[in-house]
Amino acid sequence: MNDPHPLRSDAWFNNPAEPGETAIYLERFANRGITGQELRAGRPVIGIAQSGSELTPCNFIHVSLVQRVKDGIRDAGGIPVEFPTHPIQESVRRPTAALDRNLAYLALVEILTGYPFDGVVLTTGCDKTTPAALMAAATVDIPAIVLSGGPMLDATWEGHRAGSGMVLWQARRDLAAGRIGPDELIDRVVGTVPSAGHCNTMGTALSMNSLAEALGMSLPGCAAIPAPYAERAAMAYRTGYRAVELVREDVRPSAILTRAAFDNAIVVASAIGASTNCPPHLAAIAAHAGIRLDVRDWDRIGYHIPLLVDLQPAGRHLGESFHRAGGVPAVIGELLAAGLLDGTAATVSGGSIADNCAARRSLDTEVIRRYGDPVKHDAGFMVLSGNVADSAILKTSVIGDDYRDRYLGGDVATACFEVRAVVFDSPEQYRATIEDPELGVGPDSMLIVRNAGPVGYPGSAEVVNMSPPGALVRQGIEMLPCMGDGRQSGTSDSPSLLNVSPEAAVGGGIALIRTGDRLRVDLPGRRIDLLVDEDELQRRRAEPLPEVVASYTPWQELFRRHVTQLSEGAYLDFATAYRSAGRIVPRHSH
Ligand code: FES
Ligand code: MG
Repeated sequence: MNDPHPLRSDAWFNNPAEPGETAIYLERFANRGITGQELRAGRPVIGIAQSGSELTPCNFIHVSLVQRVKDGIRDAGGIPVEFPTHPIQESVRRPTAALDRNLAYLALVEILTGYPFDGVVLTTGCDKTTPAALMAAATVDIPAIVLSGGPMLDATWEGHRAGSGMVLWQARRDLAAGRIGPDELIDRVVGTVPSAGHCNTMGTALSMNSLAEALGMSLPGCAAIPAPYAERAAMAYRTGYRAVELVREDVRPSAILTRAAFDNAIVVASAIGASTNCPPHLAAIAAHAGIRLDVRDWDRIGYHIPLLVDLQPAGRHLGESFHRAGGVPAVIGELLAAGLLDGTAATVSGGSIADNCAARRSLDTEVIRRYGDPVKHDAGFMVLSGNVADSAILKTSVIGDDYRDRYLGGDVATACFEVRAVVFDSPEQYRATIEDPELGVGPDSMLIVRNAGPVGYPGSAEVVNMSPPGALVRQGIEMLPCMGDGRQSGTSDSPSLLNVSPEAAVGGGIALIRTGDRLRVDLPGRRIDLLVDEDELQRRRAEPLPEVVASYTPWQELFRRHVTQLSEGAYLDFATAYRSAGRIVPRHSH
């Protein structure tokens, strides 16, 4: 075949200087009938990083989709080789799936560098499966393309749209208020799973797959197609086909994951109402691509972007409707027309982002609004700092009317208010004591949880969406301001100060807060400050830090020693030194 680029896989299968080596590799593929005729014909070997399994139900659709990926690879002249990735299931993994992202990343880097791959199809879906795959692609830098598995179909409960995650948060509030019992909570949550697929809200899964598309790493339209749709299987075929072409054209992630692509992704994130998990994930992908994203970039580039997508948790609709309204290409088309994106950014399609999306517009303006008629103005993240945090993220798009009027004087942009701190040293302490009247939780309280960060938890837990005690919920106060050094589920609608960095466990200012302290939140000044005099703070700095749990697996220990803070991306500090690892053909050992 007339291939202008030497294939990496030739070092294994086509090495005239080492016939013994070549024989060893061909022999083991031959045991399932793969012939030397195929492997030695200059055909790109395309890995398919299979993230679906019975342990990862969100991505299970990939177990069947992969057949269409293989068809596409074969039709384009390549050889498909499927292999499993380290499983990550957000909702089932204890103590948190956050431990798995960096582990899946490490394993994928080893697989992609150690085996005869010329390119890779990255199957993604559930929250951290997507950043893990993109981080590895950025490090290895062999041609790579993302195939997301897609959201579940839209669901309803008693005539209302019932979004993944949202249905649980509301049911928990109903349980706390005594409106429902535990059986109804379980029936409602389990009864709103309509099909295969990942979360159908704009949670971390749909957000990160939308950002993979905005970064240019998947074909246009890929992110939002529901998992069971025929279009999803067609997308799988086209993705496999395109993977082979990417090898022939030598298009690598380094040509796509540029500064312009990350800036575009931040703008798109605001317009879709993306998850608060996106800043650390995008920072980690960028770090492995050799680009430094500052958490303040989210405020600087993203805050003034309007919310165009009316999806839960910030809005009303769900993923299937998002797809029918035009999905990510329609959002990008609106933002390009408003001059808010760099249209020249390259994508895996071969065209620029403007080539792919400039002509695309919303097909249903109830779900994807026109730029001039958004769901909300100034809908991006605010990034605050002060004597309790170098940075804390606030997702403004989920702030509801009731909360805005109660705490923010009706306007997020100008709000300054004081709160009384109620501090929990772990999520367990919150659950065990929140109903205790001695805590004195009232309408002016801020619920604060610490030891929930990358080092303290370890991994960083999605616990910073704490409900008020039942007595307050029954009075109609369904949400209180929250703050924590952990994260929040992408499906949560709690207006919290999240991802506080540095975390308590490494001596961050959040460790100095005591129950009963006053804190001042100044949103226009982007400040969060503990109103305690400096002498007292100095005295508290000398006290021991709140105790963290011990590691009980070897990986937890290694993770803790090397993880960076959430503001930086919570990646492994030593891993960014190994860029372009896939350009090296490793030594052989026979
Ligand atoms: Fe897997 Fe939401 S739990 S996508
Ligand atoms: Mg999550």
